This record gives sequence, structure tokens and C-alpha cells, in this order.
Amino acid sequence: MTDVIQGLQLFLNLATRPGDGIILQEPNYRPFRSAVPTMGRRPVHLHVLPDHDSWRMDVERLENDLSIQPARVLLLVNPHNPTGRVWRRDELQVLANLAERRDLLVISDEIHSDLVYTPAAHIPFASLGPDVEARKVTLTSATKAFNIAGLRTAVAHIGPSWLRERWDAEPPDLYGVAGVLGVEATRAAWTEGDPWLAGAMNQLRRNRDQLVAGLSDLDGLLCRPRRPPTSPGSTAPDPYPTPTPLRTCASVHTSTRAPVLTTAATRPGRESISPPRAPSWTTSFGE
Ligand SMILES: Cc1ncc(COP(=O)(O)O)c(C=O)c1O
Repeated sequence: MTDVIQGLQLFLNLATRPGDGIILQEPNYRPFRSAVPTMGRRPVHLHVLPDHDSWRMDVERLENDLSIQPARVLLLVNPHNPTGRVWRRDELQVLANLAERRDLLVISDEIHSDLVYTPAAHIPFASLGPDVEARKVTLTSATKAFNIAGLRTAVAHIGPSWLRERWDAEPPDLYGVAGVLGVEATRAAWTEGDPWLAGAMNQLRRNRDQLVAGLSDLDGLLCRPRRPPTSPGSTAPDPYPTPTPLRTCASVHTSTRAPVLTTAATRPGRESISPPRAPSWTTSFGE
């Protein structure tokens, strides 16, 4: 396939009809939200709500809604965009049970699975067991973790044989095909890219911690989560203690905070709309 969005549209096209209900998390990645009504399918929302320092899916409300407006597909985004939440096995199992009871096809977008901060761990939906495997399509690609989206390549792992047969019955080029460069880049990323990815994750972690350190003590700004979700009962040490703002961040607070974050109502002066000066800490990232 050329990309994950295409995959979603392709499998909705093959597996559902106009008017069918599609369960999707809300909030969600914008192209997914728009694809469902554009294709004449009916969105049924699985609300993702703030929950202390994290987020949770309101499955209870979904169950109620489904008793009034049934659905045929559950579109799962794991890790979730936009919250960044990595769903735990017990949370995924609740969805797997729901899919089993309601005979849903599950389309699981796992495109961010390589971009997870430990101790959180990505659990592929298909790994929950053979019953789940038989009713799911996993969509993923190397494009997010390795920043190669321009090469237009994604993969689908299709559980149900009836769905594979429907796709095989289509003219092969109807949906477009991946290019050889994208295929080779994906192969290289997934077979040889671990050291590169480890370095990229370290940089992302430093960026994340620096951002939290700089933002969490700003008046009126709720910065959450201050640390990633851990499994219930986990005894693993917390590798992300509440960060102590770096000394260099103090200069960020004084030089850029007001221009960037205050509103005209609280700071009507000209300085509130002037462009921020380059933050002095940008040079302190490299270790
Ligand atoms: C959750 C999610 N799925 C899919 C995509 C897009 O993937 P692709 O470029 O393969 O269509 C994005 C891009 O941001 C995304 O956030």
C-alpha cells in the first residue's frame, strides 16, 4: 500500500457499506475523522478522556451507544494520536472482548509503535490471541519512526481470509501500489535501523524532558502527563522523575515566556506580540 490512510479507506471500502457504523476514538487523527463521513459511513465515537495524569477510553459509554446504533468496524489507533497514550494489554483486551461480542472487524493503526518511551510498551492488537488475529487488520509503516513518509509505503497484515479474498479480487492497481524505493527503505529501516532509531529516541526523550521542564511550572498551564503511564502494579523504578528545570531554562522563562504564552487580555503591551528571541537552551540539547 502507499500509506496508512489509504489502507483505512481501502479496507472500509472492502468491508463495509454506506450507512455502516465505524467506531473510532475521539479525538483522533484528522484524516481518519473525515474519511468515515466522506465515505458515507457513520462515526460512532469511543471517547478518550483525561484521567488524572493520563487518558482512558470510555468503553462503558460506547457499549450504551452501540446498543442504539450498531457498528461493523472498530478503528483502533495504538499508540493513540493525538494523546500519545500507549494502550495497555488489559485495555486492549476489553476492546477485543467487545469486538468478539459484537462481531467487529478491527482495523488497528500501529504506525507509532516504534516511538514509545519506556517503561510503556507497545502491545500489537493481534498479539492478544488467535481469535483477535482472525478479525483484525494491522496497518503500519516505517514512515513515522524513520521519517520517510515521502516514500509512500505502508503494510497491512490481514487476518480474515474473506477480506484478503475481496482485495485479491480487485484489479491490482486500483488503489495504487508502493514504489520500489519505499519498499527498500522500509526493509532497510526495519532490518538495519535499530541503532539509528535508538539515537532518535534518545533525542526525542531529551526534547520531551526539556519541554516538560520548561513548561510545567508556568502559571495557568497544566502539563500532563509529567511521566508516562505505567502498568498497574508495576514495581519498575520511575525513569522520569519530575524534572528539575535546568538553570538555562530560567532564561527561557524571562526571555520568551511572556511573548509566547500570554494573551492580549493579560499583557496588552506591544511586547506580547513581538516574536520570541531564540531560546538560549537550544544549544544545550547535544550531550
Ligand atoms: C495515527 C496516524 N496514522 C496514520 C498517519 C498517516 O500515515 P500515512 O502517511 O502512512 O498515511 C498518521 C500521520 O500523522 C497518524 O498520526
